[in-house]
Formats: sequence, C-alpha cells, structure tokens
Amino acid sequence: QSQTILFPEGFLWGGATAANQIEGAYNSDGKGLDAQDLMPFVTKEQRKGRISMDLTSEQFEHNLKDEVGVYPKRFGIDFYHRYKEDIKLFAEMGFKVFRISISWARIFPKGYEQEPNEKGLSFYDSVFDECHKYGIQPLVTLSHYETPVGLIKKYNGWESREVIDHFVHYATTVFNRYKDKVKYWLTFNEINVITKSPYTGGGIILDRAKDPVSVGYQAAHHQFVASALVTKIAHEINSDFCVGCMLARSEIYPGTNDPVDILLAQQENNLNLFFTDVQVRGEYPAYMTRYFEENGIHIHKKTGDDELLKSYPVDFLSFSYYTSLSVSTHHDTAASEGNLFQGQVNPYLETSDWGWQIDPIGLRVALNDLYVRYRVPLFIVENGLGAYDKVENGQIHDDYRISYLREHIRQIGEAIQDGADVIGYTSWGPIDLVSMSTSEMSKRYGFVYVDQDDEGKGTLKRLKKDSFYWYKKVIASNGREL
Ligand code: BG6
Repeated sequence: QSQTILFPEGFLWGGATAANQIEGAYNSDGKGLDAQDLMPFVTKEQRKGRISMDLTSEQFEHNLKDEVGVYPKRFGIDFYHRYKEDIKLFAEMGFKVFRISISWARIFPKGYEQEPNEKGLSFYDSVFDECHKYGIQPLVTLSHYETPVGLIKKYNGWESREVIDHFVHYATTVFNRYKDKVKYWLTFNEINVITKSPYTGGGIILDRAKDPVSVGYQAAHHQFVASALVTKIAHEINSDFCVGCMLARSEIYPGTNDPVDILLAQQENNLNLFFTDVQVRGEYPAYMTRYFEENGIHIHKKTGDDELLKSYPVDFLSFSYYTSLSVSTHHDTAASEGNLFQGQVNPYLETSDWGWQIDPIGLRVALNDLYVRYRVPLFIVENGLGAYDKVENGQIHDDYRISYLREHIRQIGEAIQDGADVIGYTSWGPIDLVSMSTSEMSKRYGFVYVDQDDEGKGTLKRLKKDSFYWYKKVIASNGREL
C-alpha cells in the first residue's frame, strides 16, 4: 500500500441521492404517481425472508388506492421543502458534486403528456441554482426507479417499445431546460436491476408481461436504445454534456478454486458486465447469444438498433458499489445479501447489520477490471454503509461509517495509482434517506442525521454526525487526510 494517496486535481467529491427517497411531496404541484410511491414499508417479519421489490397486479391495484398503509417514499425526508438547508450542509462539507434524480412524474405526471408541468421544472431550476450558489455541480439521473404510474398502466412500463419515445421526449425537455445548469447526466440507475426486479427497474408488472422469461432483457434493450438516443440528443443540445451509464457492480468471486467455480464466477461477471459492454462498447457481446438461447430469452430488435447502439455509446461509466459476492457450486455456506443480489458468505469479510459484506479491496479490483475492460472515465456514484445510528446528547458517533468509507476511499486512491481513470466519488445518502429495498428510515447512510422514524414520525431536524466533520476534512485535503 502506498503512503500518500493522490487524487487528481478537480476530483469530484460529493454525495448521491434519488428523488423518490428524499423529496416527499409525492402529489404536490402537479406531480403524478411513480412506481416508488406504491412501495410499502417492509416489516421486520418480511425482512427475514427475501424481500420482493416487485408488485403483482393485485398489489399494484391495491396500493394505488390504499390510504392507510405506510409508503415512506411518499414523504421522503421532505427535501422538496428543505433543499436549501440540505444543500447548505453539503456545501459546508465542501461538496463539488451532488447527485440527484429528476422525478419523471414531476415533469410529465403520467409520463406520456406532450406539455411538461412547469411547477416541476421550476423546482429543479431552484435546486440547481442553489447548488451553483456554492459551486456544486449537479449530477443528474434521468431515471432512478421512478417510472410514472401512467406508463405502467398504459404500457406495462418498459416492456413496451413505445416508452422509448416518451423517455426521449422527457430527456429532451430537461436537457433543453437545464442546458446551462447541468453538465453530468446518467440515463438509467443500475440498469442491470431490471432483469432482477422488472418493476423496480422498469415499472413492469410481471404477471402482465407477454413473455415473463424475456421481459427483463427485452426492457433492458429498450433502455439501451433510449440511452443511445438521448446521448445523441444531449450532445446536439450541448457539446459539453457528459452522459454516463450506471451499473450496480459487485465484483463476483469464485467461492473456491475449483475450476467449475472459476467458470461460474466468470459467467456471473459477464452477466453483470453485459450492460456496460453494450453501453460503453456499443454492441451485444458474443457470450450473451448462448445465454439467451439456453435460457429461452428472445429479444426483439428493430432494424437500425444495432447501428444506433454502436454510434452513441456513453461518455463515461458510473457504478454503485456496496459489496462483493461469492459464487460456488459447493453449497456449504450460507447466503449473503446485497440489495437484489445474493451470494455465499465470504469468511474473510465482515458483514453489515443488513447482511451486506464489506469489501473495500473489492472496489479497487472493480475499478481496475472496469478500466482495463473499457478504458473510459469511471465515476463511483454510490457507496456507503447502511447502519443503525444512536443519538446521544444531540451527537452521533458513527465511527463504523467513517471506517467503512475511509477504507473504500483508500482503495479508490490505490486504483488511481494502479492507473484507473477515476473522475469522482459520491457516497450514497449523504443525508439519511428512505431505503430503496426496505423503505426503512432506520437504515441510515448519512453524514447528516434526519430525525424521522420508519413511520414518518419525527421533527425532521437535521443533525451533523461525526462523519460530517470527517468527510469535510477528506474533501478539503483532496483525499490526503483519511
Ligand atoms: C442502490 C440504489 O441499489 O442501493 C439506491 O441505487 C439505494 O437507490 C442503495 O438506496 C442502497 O440500498 P438500500 O436498499 O440500502 O437503500
């Protein structure tokens, strides 16, 4: 390990969020409902088994009308009304960049209108202006699991090719509106999630799908096409725009050195990297042909799709990294978690309270692998530790969070010295927010504590944790002081 970690000048330090997990105000100022407004709180009992992030038709219809259940993403942390206070706190930590998503249904309430909702557009104008006041660059995700309910009802979400046109219209609208305020754009958050949870990734209700086996990959194809189209348009609107893809990356290790396990890990890594192979290299990789055949997956492409993908790859590759996974044919170890992905327990790693294994070196491996494979700039746009925090006399001593982040940042520095071109790091949830997978508030990631419980009770007061001061120092020293 090197003594001094050197991060490049202008490295983009900051934090990452998503509209549905922070904004609240889910039906204010003309916003339509989106997929996440219908995701209920997951109880402790339910969390003991696998959590489903999909909705059946029945659940979807029920949740649409339900006014008694707890749907935490409807209230978020009230960022909609408190963004000034929150951005000020990020500025105090010295953020260079702040990742948010635009809620599609705030701009086009049903998803398919022609005219945008002006109140939605002007909300993001204010948010971006507030960022620029402090010299913070916005990094904007166009779609972070927030498919408008209108598109779910009309098309079963991204199952249908028609949704591409509506997305392009939405993206073009916001590109034009914010062309002088936003430079960095991401198309689809964790695009690979769509094959694990079609509802989360694409607003698809599985029991309505014509071909449930193929629907995840078919929808991914539609998103690839949409992403290529909007990358083209983005560059036409402003040649300075940088458009990135976004992958949920877990390094996948062989559980043993049995060659069968080595092969299995290679295949699993390919299934993960398929998405970036298409979006960065601009073509479907050969290994998927066999996978599709053997798994009865049929992708309908239109003439011209392949040329489009080849012509408009992304400018940079962004990814989330929380954990590595181990796979093995020797089923003698228990399962470990990791959002939508599961593997086997790696005895060399510690585990978070939610069963996610902690592997900072895996991040260095991931960065090196990605850079060798793609040779495009890399941006870590999510990484962090979901943990229970305790408030003692108004203070939160979250040394466990500091230690998680410190070790991961150290490994990023190592990867940079290994030669990887890394342009930025936004830790997940710089302020506590509603969990994506469980809708809990008590699974906290922030440098800033939010006084609110799982049911949405609390003063919403913001408190600085110990990690707040630590991260401020990290940014001020450009990663030298960890
Ligand atoms: C990523 C998502 O998968 O993981 C975020 O892009 C999410 O939206 C994050 O919040 C952490 O997951 P969770 O379930 O702990 O909120």
